[in-house]
Amino acid sequence: MPHLRTLCVYFLVALSLVMTNTMTEDLDVLVFLPQNNSYLFSYERVAPAIRYAQKRLKADGGQYSGFNFNIQFENSDCLYDAFFTLADRSCGQKPDLILGPVCEYEAAAVVRLASHWNIPVISAGALATGFANKNKEYSHLTRIAPPYVKMAETFTAMFEHFSWRSALLVFEDDREQRNCYFTLEGVYHLMSNYNIESYVLTDDKPLDTDELLRSISDME
Ligand SMILES: *[C@@H]1O[C@H](CO)[C@@H](O)[C@H](O)[C@H]1NC(C)=O
Repeated sequence: MPHLRTLCVYFLVALSLVMTNTMTEDLDVLVFLPQNNSYLFSYERVAPAIRYAQKRLKADGGQYSGFNFNIQFENSDCLYDAFFTLADRSCGQKPDLILGPVCEYEAAAVVRLASHWNIPVISAGALATGFANKNKEYSHLTRIAPPYVKMAETFTAMFEHFSWRSALLVFEDDREQRNCYFTLEGVYHLMSNYNIESYVLTDDKPLDTDELLRSISDME
């Protein structure tokens, strides 16, 4: 079999030449970050990291240095900006990769459209339970932060450890970005076999401690 072995070696050498030489490609990367500076993931904080990654990938002389990542930053207003930008822009050339958006509702719209077009999306957000649906709607989403269900696993472990059976979820629902709602939705989703009740605070229904205490004693 020495002949076959030689052939294999040739093949591997040829393959590695192909791998290192022809992986040159222009990739359009569309990045959605809020220009509004009040978010942890605002443009001013995150853009330097993305530019740094771009520079490092290029400079390393490594496997990916042949790729030219053409990065275009667009605004995310945590509402509709990212979705409309993606739709408008894609009438011409569709991006190859999308980074962001982070906010739940905005990410949902963008990821649905991107998944339909087979464009991968990487987001530090989109943490709600629904995004775990990888069959269709959100097939092309990769999340780089632990989703809310992961936090819920911690609660489930605590409940099992202490043999607790019931919980009252107290949260504020801003009816806009609904981060608190989605956070506790993970708990609700995972702990459906426990006795779970909710006490929701909104702008028109601020915290009323007497009522809250009544809710707690009703549950016991
Ligand atoms: C920035 O976002 C915050 C929080 O959502 C909001 O209160 C503020 O009005 C925004 N600022 C501008 C200039 O849009």
